[in-house]
Amino acid sequence: MDAVGKGHRAAIMLTPMTQPDRENAETLSFESAAVHVGNVHMGSRMGTAVRTPIVMANSYELPYDAPSLDWHAPDQFLYQRNTGVNQNGLEKRLAALEGAEECVVFSTGVAAMYAVFFTTLRSGDHCVCTNIGYNALRRILENLLPEKYGIETTFVDTSDLDAVRAAIRPNTKLVHCEVLANPVNRVADIEALAEIAHKAGAVFSVDSTYTPPGWFRPLEHGADLVQHSLTKYINGHGDAMGGAVLGRHELIEPVRIDAQVDMGAALSPFNAWLITRGTVTLPLRLKHIAESTQQVAEFLEAHPKIAHVAFPGLPSHPQHELAARQLDAGFGGTIAFCLNGTQETQNEFVSKLRLITSAVSLGHDESLIVHLSLEDAHAVEFPEIFKTNGILRLSLGLENPNDLIADLAAALTNVG
Ligand SMILES: Cc1ncc(COP(=O)(O)O)c(C=O)c1O
Repeated sequence: MDAVGKGHRAAIMLTPMTQPDRENAETLSFESAAVHVGNVHMGSRMGTAVRTPIVMANSYELPYDAPSLDWHAPDQFLYQRNTGVNQNGLEKRLAALEGAEECVVFSTGVAAMYAVFFTTLRSGDHCVCTNIGYNALRRILENLLPEKYGIETTFVDTSDLDAVRAAIRPNTKLVHCEVLANPVNRVADIEALAEIAHKAGAVFSVDSTYTPPGWFRPLEHGADLVQHSLTKYINGHGDAMGGAVLGRHELIEPVRIDAQVDMGAALSPFNAWLITRGTVTLPLRLKHIAESTQQVAEFLEAHPKIAHVAFPGLPSHPQHELAARQLDAGFGGTIAFCLNGTQETQNEFVSKLRLITSAVSLGHDESLIVHLSLEDAHAVEFPEIFKTNGILRLSLGLENPNDLIADLAAALTNVG
């Protein structure tokens, strides 16, 4: 697989004679779906706008026989906490890109995570979860859910399939992992984990924030639910937060009713509009980022001041073969690495960068680096080198990779 990989797979494979129709997602390739699905051409006395406007309305006019409506239907416009024109358009577009029956959008990625746990687990249930992942996972599953609701979680290394099997209990209702675990880029074998979860009668949910559609589509590999922080690659411009949960209708319906409507973490129309606009360039951005990240990872690995690089596109990554076999294209856009030296060396290095910004988040248009805390609960599971030297997470943006390499090279020269 080259840097970009096997190439972007179409949402639905077209036969050469099929005429693409922007009103019919099934006829559109991945790149065309990212432009058209969910966009509504809206008429007014002034003419028909070709882009969906931002509809900042809390309520929608009800028909004569309002009580007969299905008040929870995904397309029923009543009240903005249920849905609205912009949220609905984004849900349709994300479902087309991810190859999902349905999608629900939320105000943040954490709200989407919480929605998965809240709807699939109840008191007395057990969850098996990756022991390395976005740090809110630990706070929700290790503290909040057991203390308040009596829901227990076993954290396991999801790359060790025997450990996952051993963690399953008769009351295990959910298995949860990240495709590339944040921040160390450990790769989960989605098909193998799906088989274990399904044998146990559990729902298998996957946080695919690191691998948006274009790089990977977990539902095609056996996942039941996919969850995203839209704040990252899918919006891609670092200016709006959002989250999404996608899957089959019977699993998504309770997510919409229990978590979106009744917990209330609804996405604002403005953010839905911004994120929808971001999705238009997702296929192009992912191609660029995959190529840049590969180049930057290779540069870092070859540099004498670098102690370790964790990026699945490098043959040195222990799960390089699995990543190459599993992912549709590319190896992600985020690199974990550290310099020879101490935590202070990592701070000094970050302070010498002039193009790359020191800030949290990832998948933005600008490249971001963060020297992560080792205080978070999952840090005890990090590879030893990161625990001694410190860990830097670099998320590549849309800059020219030669500029990024020049910035990293200069900072490396100026450190120590
Ligand atoms: C893998 C992953 N999942 C979920 C989240 C949470 O998303 P948000 O910050 O949009 O709430 C993040 C945030 O960094 C993340 O990296």
